[in-house]
Amino acid sequence: MHIGTPLSPSATKVMLLGAGELGKEVIIALQRLGVEVIAVDRYDNAPGHQVAHHAHAIDMSNGNVLGRLIDSEQPHLVVPEIEAIATETLVELERAGKCRVIPTARAANLTMNREGIRRLAAEALKLPTSPYAFADSFDQLKAAIAGGIGYPCVIKPVMSSSGKGQSKVDGPQELKTAWDYANAGGRVAKGRVIVEGFVDFDYEITQLTVRAMGADGKTHTHFCEPVGHVQVKGDYVESWQPQAMSPAALEKSRAIAKAVTDDLGGLGLFGVECFVKGDQVWFSEVSPRPHDTGMVTMITQRQSEFELHARAILGLPVDTTLRNPGASAVIYGGMEAKGIRYEGVAEALAIPGTDIRLFGKPVAFERRRMGVALAEGRDTDEARQKAKEAAGRVKPVA
Ligand SMILES: Nc1ncnc2c1ncn2[C@@H]1O[C@H](COP(=O)(O)OP(=O)(O)OP(=O)(O)O)[C@@H](O)[C@H]1O
Ligand SMILES: [Mg+2]
Repeated sequence: MHIGTPLSPSATKVMLLGAGELGKEVIIALQRLGVEVIAVDRYDNAPGHQVAHHAHAIDMSNGNVLGRLIDSEQPHLVVPEIEAIATETLVELERAGKCRVIPTARAANLTMNREGIRRLAAEALKLPTSPYAFADSFDQLKAAIAGGIGYPCVIKPVMSSSGKGQSKVDGPQELKTAWDYANAGGRVAKGRVIVEGFVDFDYEITQLTVRAMGADGKTHTHFCEPVGHVQVKGDYVESWQPQAMSPAALEKSRAIAKAVTDDLGGLGLFGVECFVKGDQVWFSEVSPRPHDTGMVTMITQRQSEFELHARAILGLPVDTTLRNPGASAVIYGGMEAKGIRYEGVAEALAIPGTDIRLFGKPVAFERRRMGVALAEGRDTDEARQKAKEAAGRVKPVA
């Protein structure tokens, strides 16, 4: 693919479907390479809108609306940044040769639903996963748990992300609450849940994996150093890189990541989530796009996950080298308000070796991710401590 001049007939045009904090960084990376970027989100002034050539606010889960926008903008590449989009429409458009979807329309379609990707990983690819079952009613859910999943287990809507509608259930008395919560928290396909046996892991990782074009014209797989992270209620609060792993666990994680990404295909960066206990590794899920826990790479790698994604999708070479250990810690809104201000930014940045990103989201919620603190360190312990300290110094005010 040749790169032209933005806003001219030769422009290389990329459309981001989803323009949150992850999309914003991909857009900045594309802008630096001279790509014309169209940012799409469901609300005005989303983080990525603020740094793109063109901005649209549409309902991306409406196939007709999405199809019309793609028709009128004619992007060379369509890059999904979120799961909640009309992926069926992308499959049709790609099949008709009307656009190229990153990494592929099938990958976007399979991974937006936990059932698609779980059946692919566990049943087609035979990768180790937690035991699981699907249920459409409370009775089916009870039967699945009695039939072998047991307690503790984790219940999730088949279509949701960032831990929405998800809960851990320790016994039958908590089951109804979890079922009701899952029903309220899912995006679509109301009522269908996955119930998974709880994996008592030592730690969990994101194996960032890049499929990029080599000088030989073939696609090659590159691995970043593993990212360790802590999740609270299914949402990431801090991450670090590299996560120390036994050689056997690292090898298994990469074999899992290779198998899944080979199957999904296309070009780009993937976040393969795995649970690890000793030398045992379970596949959990995969994002066919940059991963929130991978924001740490903005301070640890020569090329962040966003730069890697931008390069890979354009068919350019990538370098996944780790520069130094580091960590990230999330900055939350802490309140419900519009147009908030951030105090303590100078105090946060006064900590040597730290940086921050404020996403510029127009509206804050209590648990909304509004920014992230980044820190480098001699080791990940030092970096985590500095990142948390820096995040804590940033105070959102109304
Ligand atoms: N079967 C399980 N056993 C133990 N912990 C689990 C299990 N499933 C999920 N978790 C925990 O919950 C977190 C979120 O789960 P999962 O990644 O499936 O949800 P998600 O909504 O897709 O989250 P995100 O969009 O942030 O990746 C996991 O990272 C892990 O910490
Ligand atoms: Mg996850």
